[in-house]
Amino acid sequence: MASVTSLSDSVQQHLASALSAALPEAAGADPLLRRSDRADYQANGILALAKKAKANPRELATQVVSRVTTGEVIKDVEVSGPGFLNITIADTAITRNLAERYADESGRLGVPYARQPGTTVIDYAQPNVAKEMHVGHLRSAVIGDSVVKLLEFTGENVIRRHHIGDWGTQFGMLIQYLDEHPHELDHKSAEDGADAGEEAMSNLDRLYKAARKKFDADEEFKTRARRRVVDLQAGEPKTLAMWQKFVDESKIYFFSVFDKLDMEIRDPDIVGESGYNDMLAETCRLLEESGVAVRSEGALCVFFDDIKGPDGNPVPLIVQKSDGGYGYAATDLSAIRDRVFNLKANELIYVVDARQSLHFKMVFETARRAGWLNDDVKAYQLAFGTVLGKDGKPFKTREGETVRLVDLLDEAIDRATAVVREKDTLGRLSEEEIAERGAQVGIGAVKYADLSTSANRDYKFDLDQMVSLNGDTSVYLQYAYARIQSILRKAGEARPAAHPELELHATERALGLHLDAFAETVAEAAAEYAPHKMTAYLYQLASLFTSFYDKCQVLSDDNPAEVVENRLFLCDLTARTLHQGMALLGIRTPERL
Ligand code: ARG
Repeated sequence: MASVTSLSDSVQQHLASALSAALPEAAGADPLLRRSDRADYQANGILALAKKAKANPRELATQVVSRVTTGEVIKDVEVSGPGFLNITIADTAITRNLAERYADESGRLGVPYARQPGTTVIDYAQPNVAKEMHVGHLRSAVIGDSVVKLLEFTGENVIRRHHIGDWGTQFGMLIQYLDEHPHELDHKSAEDGADAGEEAMSNLDRLYKAARKKFDADEEFKTRARRRVVDLQAGEPKTLAMWQKFVDESKIYFFSVFDKLDMEIRDPDIVGESGYNDMLAETCRLLEESGVAVRSEGALCVFFDDIKGPDGNPVPLIVQKSDGGYGYAATDLSAIRDRVFNLKANELIYVVDARQSLHFKMVFETARRAGWLNDDVKAYQLAFGTVLGKDGKPFKTREGETVRLVDLLDEAIDRATAVVREKDTLGRLSEEEIAERGAQVGIGAVKYADLSTSANRDYKFDLDQMVSLNGDTSVYLQYAYARIQSILRKAGEARPAAHPELELHATERALGLHLDAFAETVAEAAAEYAPHKMTAYLYQLASLFTSFYDKCQVLSDDNPAEVVENRLFLCDLTARTLHQGMALLGIRTPERL
């Protein structure tokens, strides 16, 4: 495990020690180092520090400069403007740093682990039993999966929880109907995977509609269905067994969709609402005994000063209804107790639609009052915005219905497949290869479009833009990766190798410094649960690579062997970084496209 000190960190250290030598009271202060267009880095922190110490900023900057050790890493440092520092890195230091990353045999490109990893429970990919998955479930799954990968890469202990909607009064109706029509969930074909998933969903859908119709039309059925709810809640074995059938059937469908999404969801991590049934009564008891919740019109409620309805009356969180039933809030509060006290988490993340923000605000505040959450154990809703159609309105089918997630994914795959086929002008790919790449490009496009806007914003689902080869898309990055692989194949005998003694072209320096910043990007994206920082980094990486490749011939007979090797090394490190970064987003990088 060879973690590499990044260039920015070593510059930062050099500056910090020069700064505290020049101004002892500034010991430990941040020189605010940034990448800059004028030099490699600029430090902007001197101004504020000088102000605080009532010193002249330019003078202080000059003193700091005189104390910076130049040589191995810092080639040059100078004062600019009112007291900024411009820093230039030695070419040798850039290549050495990259060579260390390249040589990291753990495959982590020298990225260090977080200093104090903790345990994070992340609640994501939570569809509802007996219901179709729609475009809202896409975001939770895609964002959640990437945050899991980012956190795990930093060494965090991550526990995944898929809080599926598998409980509620609607099951009384469904179970009663199935009891009266026992073959409705039988599978006609013996297929596996996507087809079995589709069949499961269409069974469930048909059954749901039929049950609903009977429920609305037939008073006696309604009574029988209501009695079933009571049986279910009492855990009557036959009723429970039938409920389990719905859950199992739905899982066949869920797994087929997650599979299409190229996403690993593990069965033991699926702990739905029903998983907390045994805790609900105690949760209520604890809240009532501690006075956090009070009885109001028979219901057990928690009130908040700042949460009022349109009529000005307080809107409570209802933990237990007046008829004794428990709802969504009781389940979520019990899940918090489980995650904090049994799973020993110190961070809880909920990747859930922004439209549920009020619910989570109330649930988290309740848990804090109860002492289950505090400064050491925090909860955070990673709220996401709405997926919009091209018209900027919430995404709907032409008939005005919510879009089925599978249809949307299939369309993306079809479009991407057409792009792959069209690009393969020489007909080198077999039909099978075209299909495989089409899926990787199509699913990658959907994931990337979702991840590249910050989660809380809405975004337009625009397939034309998503599969475009130009611009900030995953296809662009996948092509950059595949192009590098083809360069490496064409290199023949020449092998990538670092030559720190070589002078670098400006585009090589820019690419090199950006490669060095991968570690920093991982740390930031993980700490802020912000995959869009990784997409932005990768897009810039591909752009810098393109400029480098435009300006610097890699495989030219005119180049000395060392130059060819060093450039191949830059190519290969770029490819590895692209591959790793894309993997953290859950996106594949095919070797050929
Ligand atoms: N099943 C819910 C839905 O489809 C999302 C569940 C979110 N997680 C939670 N702990 N409440 O909207």
